[in-house]
Amino acid sequence: MKKLKIGFFQFKPKHGKPEENLKFIESYSDKIKEADIIVLPELATTGYVFHSKEELLPLADEIPEGKQSKFFSDLAKNTDTLIITGLAEREEDRLFNSQAAFYPDGKVVRYRKLHLFYKEKQLFEPSDNEPAIIDYKGVKIGLMICFDWAFPEHARLLMLKGAQILAHSSNLVLPGLGQAGMRIRSIENRVFSITANRFGEEDGVKFTGKSQIVNPKGEILQSAGENETTIKIVEIHPEDANDKNITPLNNILEDSKITLKLLSKYVAFDGGHSSK
Ligand code: ACM
Repeated sequence: MKKLKIGFFQFKPKHGKPEENLKFIESYSDKIKEADIIVLPELATTGYVFHSKEELLPLADEIPEGKQSKFFSDLAKNTDTLIITGLAEREEDRLFNSQAAFYPDGKVVRYRKLHLFYKEKQLFEPSDNEPAIIDYKGVKIGLMICFDWAFPEHARLLMLKGAQILAHSSNLVLPGLGQAGMRIRSIENRVFSITANRFGEEDGVKFTGKSQIVNPKGEILQSAGENETTIKIVEIHPEDANDKNITPLNNILEDSKITLKLLSKYVAFDGGHSSK
């Protein structure tokens, strides 16, 4: 069975200083290189609390042609690692809370956050994209940004589209909830999840750290403290996420009357029978 090294990079971005944050991220290249996939937090290059669009626009990046995107493409190439990070995205005078996957071969896939949290609604445009799935080394990865965790149908849809791993870039603020929620998303969908959270405080908003990697049984494989800069990596068998049986007689797809009724048009997955 194929193995994959997946990880998160938890840190505290400097508010309003993308160049400094990129240098800081680059200084961890040797560690990033050890992983096949590394997930970074939401808005990893700018920080989180902005009081107007005008304040954030000059710091935001165009994906994939902007300077920050170029940096991440170079980093992915130099480390031979898939880098998934949150970025403030600019399109003309519009802002999106985005996540992008930068491949070592230069490919870039972008996802714009569907579920904006609290005052993000005053800065960012609502996204009109579908939950996004990417493919890397034959493994399917679903993209999620922070508050997306609170909408179980988001992770459900990603699983139905074939996701084996949920890559969750976060700036979580509600103590414990997002981490607990993602454990449940892993259990109820029998998928791996990587939550890369930030820590620190901006303008009275405290971020909760405690990034984690969870397996399809809900076991926490790796986690970080509340206030530490760290990269943690674990080796997994992505195919463990193809077994959708909770007991020999309970398969989460076959037994889910509601999923099959409402979401069956999305099912790209046969409940794991083909891999047995
Ligand atoms: C959040 O979605 N940043 C809480």
